[in-house]
Amino acid sequence: MLAGVADQLVISEEDRPWTVDELERNVRGFDAVLCMLHDPIDLRVLQAANGCRIFANMAVGFNNIDVVEATKLGIMVTNTPGVLTEATADLAWALILAVARRVADGDRVMRAQEFPGWGPNYLLGGDVTGRTLGLVGPGRIAQAVARRSVGFEMPLVYSGRRQSPTLEALGARWLELDELMAESDFISLHVPLTPETTHLIDARRLGLMKPSAYLINTARGPVVDETALVSALKSHRIAGAGLDVYEREPAMAEGLAGCLNAVLLPHLGSATLQTRSNMSRIAAENIIAALNGDRPANLINPDALPGTGLPDILP
Ligand code: GLV
Ligand code: GLV
Repeated sequence: MLAGVADQLVISEEDRPWTVDELERNVRGFDAVLCMLHDPIDLRVLQAANGCRIFANMAVGFNNIDVVEATKLGIMVTNTPGVLTEATADLAWALILAVARRVADGDRVMRAQEFPGWGPNYLLGGDVTGRTLGLVGPGRIAQAVARRSVGFEMPLVYSGRRQSPTLEALGARWLELDELMAESDFISLHVPLTPETTHLIDARRLGLMKPSAYLINTARGPVVDETALVSALKSHRIAGAGLDVYEREPAMAEGLAGCLNAVLLPHLGSATLQTRSNMSRIAAENIIAALNGDRPANLINPDALPGTGLPDILP
């Protein structure tokens, strides 16, 4: 988190996110705030930032910001789309391969010096090549995951509110989410977190999955009912899960750490040096544009700009 006035730049020195109380104290009087996905930018913080022109989130997701209230207050909100698409798709693939081929199990065995020697039935996993990949959400990251699946010769299905010509060009078939849950061998989540997508994958939908199927989440934790997922993993109702995000980060649901059929990563989707450099540069460019009176390239709420009339509720 970082905030700046023309000649004054304040950078949080904490090695942790600021709380709402700290944010409320610290954003006062600044023209721009560069915030991270773990900073809860709610109504209180926005009101405290009275007069601020922009909150530039260093993330593609912006569920941490109350965009409707920011718009009403005339505060611009920006994100950093595009530059993290490929890195996040790579990580989704790392999870697909790791959970199906038991990469983390194998690593644990070796470090514990417990490798008993090659065996015909030793640490068997699931096949990837030729299995059906289900993409929940038709956006950029889903498309990048789909492109990578071509080499694995996977039939593709996807769900979402809109059909995607890009996905269809890769041979993907649109399905209702319930059908996708039932047909897919790998289900990879690529929806933003909104009230509609909170617990989109709940106990009922997990119950539609094949027992041999895997769930991959590189989107946002609350899209999945994590407690229901722990039950599905513990009872081997599904084969496994690859998770990069959690419902109450950095905490995990009780029992999840004990589920060895899950591969668990600490929110690393965009965590490459190049990607994070690009994200921080874009967030800074959005701020510079806003302070120069220009329209930032990644403006999420154009209705916050003066002269655009009454704010619209966002899609
Ligand atoms: C990462 O999770 C992002 O939204 O950028
Ligand atoms: C994010 O960039 C997405 O559209 O999936």
